[in-house]
Amino acid sequence: MKARKISWLVISLLVLFSMVLTACGGKAETPVVDDPAVDEPVVEPPMDKQQVEVFSWWTGGGEAAGLDAMIVVFKEKYPDIEFVNAAVAGGAGTNARAVLATRLQAGDAPDSWQGHAGQELIGTYVAAGQLEPLNFLYEQNGWLDVMPETLIPLISEGGNIYSVPVNIHRANVLWYNPKVLEDNGVAVPGSLDEFFTAMDTLQAAGMEAPLAMGEQWTVMHLMETILLASMGSDAYNGLWNGTTDWGGADVTKALNDFVKVLSYTNSDSASLSWQDASQLVVDGDAAFNVMGDWAEGFFKELGKTPKTEFGWAPVPGTAGTFQFLSDSFVLPTGAPHRDAAIAWLTVAGSKEGQDAFNPVKGSIPARSDGDKALYDEYLQSAMADWSTDVVVGSLAHGVVANDSWKTEIDTALGLFQISMDVAAFQTSLEAACVASGPCK
Ligand code: GAL
Repeated sequence: MKARKISWLVISLLVLFSMVLTACGGKAETPVVDDPAVDEPVVEPPMDKQQVEVFSWWTGGGEAAGLDAMIVVFKEKYPDIEFVNAAVAGGAGTNARAVLATRLQAGDAPDSWQGHAGQELIGTYVAAGQLEPLNFLYEQNGWLDVMPETLIPLISEGGNIYSVPVNIHRANVLWYNPKVLEDNGVAVPGSLDEFFTAMDTLQAAGMEAPLAMGEQWTVMHLMETILLASMGSDAYNGLWNGTTDWGGADVTKALNDFVKVLSYTNSDSASLSWQDASQLVVDGDAAFNVMGDWAEGFFKELGKTPKTEFGWAPVPGTAGTFQFLSDSFVLPTGAPHRDAAIAWLTVAGSKEGQDAFNPVKGSIPARSDGDKALYDEYLQSAMADWSTDVVVGSLAHGVVANDSWKTEIDTALGLFQISMDVAAFQTSLEAACVASGPCK
C-alpha cells in the first residue's frame, strides 16, 4: 500500500515537471507515441527530416535518365529534402496508374504524381476532387507568362489550375531506319498510300513485318495517329468534342486504313514493350515504328546516331499537325509532405528543371523560354513544329478522353484485335462515346 502511494507521488511529480517545462516554452522533444499493438514506442521523424515521394512510370530506357536529371536539380535546390522515387515500371503508365488508383483508394497518396494534361487530369483526378489548385504557384513563379496558352485550359477547371506541365511530347512520329530504306530503294513516305507502297516493297524484299509494334497501349497509340492521318485534324478533333459522328463513313475508312496498317506489323507485338518495338528499327529488323518522341531519348541512351541510325518524320498523312501530350505533376489534397511537394513542383515548373529533364527525355520544355542550344536536332525540329503546326491531342496519353472513355475504347480495341471486325468495332466506339464521351 505504502509502495503504491510512493509511486503515485513520483508519477504526479513527473507530470507536474513536464507541464512546467512545456509552459516555459521548452523545445518540444521528438514525439513518442505508444502503440499498444506493437508495444514499442513509434518515433515520428524529426521535423527537419523532410521527404517527398514522387510517383511516375519513368523507370526504363531514356525515361529514368530524364527523371534523374531533374532530381539532380532538385537535390541542389533542396538538399534537406529526401527524394523518394516511387516510379512503377511500364510504358504509358498502364501498370503505374493501376497502382496509383489502389493507393488513392486506400488513402495512401504519394506527395506528387505524374498525370497527363487534358482529360486524364481534369476528367479523372480533378473530377474526383483529389487535387489542390496551384494558382498560387503560378502567381509566385510567373508561370502564366511562360506556359503555353494552348496548355493552360487543358489543366484548368473553373478558373483553377491543377498541375505543373514539365514537357511537350509528340505522338505522331514515324521512326525509321535510314539504311533499310536506302538499301530497298524506299523513300520516306509522306502519305498513307506511300506508306502502304513502301511496306509492300519491303515485304516483297523479304521483311515480313516492316512496321514494329508493341503491347496493347502502343496499338492504341498507332490507331490514334492513323485516325488523324486518314480523317484530318478537324474531323479528328470532332471525335472528342462530339462534332464528328463515330458512325460516319470517314471513321469506317480510317478503321479500314488501320486494319491495313496492322497487316504490316509483327505477330509477337503483345509481348514487346515500346522499347523492344523501337529497338527493332535501330537494329534493322524493322523499317518503321510509330511512337512518341520518348523513343528519341531511348535511341540516344542506346548511343545511336541521328539521321544515320534512326530517322524521323511525321506519321504519313499527318505533316503540319502536332499530336501532342504533356506530362505534368500534381499536388494531392492532403499531401503527406505538402511543403516538400511544393518544392518538387517548383523545380518541375522551373526553366532549370525543364532544361535538365527534356533534352534527355526526348521532349521539349512546356515552358516557352527553354534554352534551344541544349536541345539536339530532332528536338529543335519538334520545337519549331510545336510553334507552327496545328495542335491536336493524344488519346493514348490522356489528352482527349477521360479514363472511363479511354478504358471503353481500349476494351473495344482489344476485342477488335482478335476479331478484326470493323463494323463491330465501330459500333462499340460509337457506344463508348455515348456512354462516356460527348455523344448523346
Ligand atoms: C507516356 C508519357 C511519356 C512516356 C511514355 C512511355 O504516357 O507521357 O512521358 O513515358 O508514356 O512510357
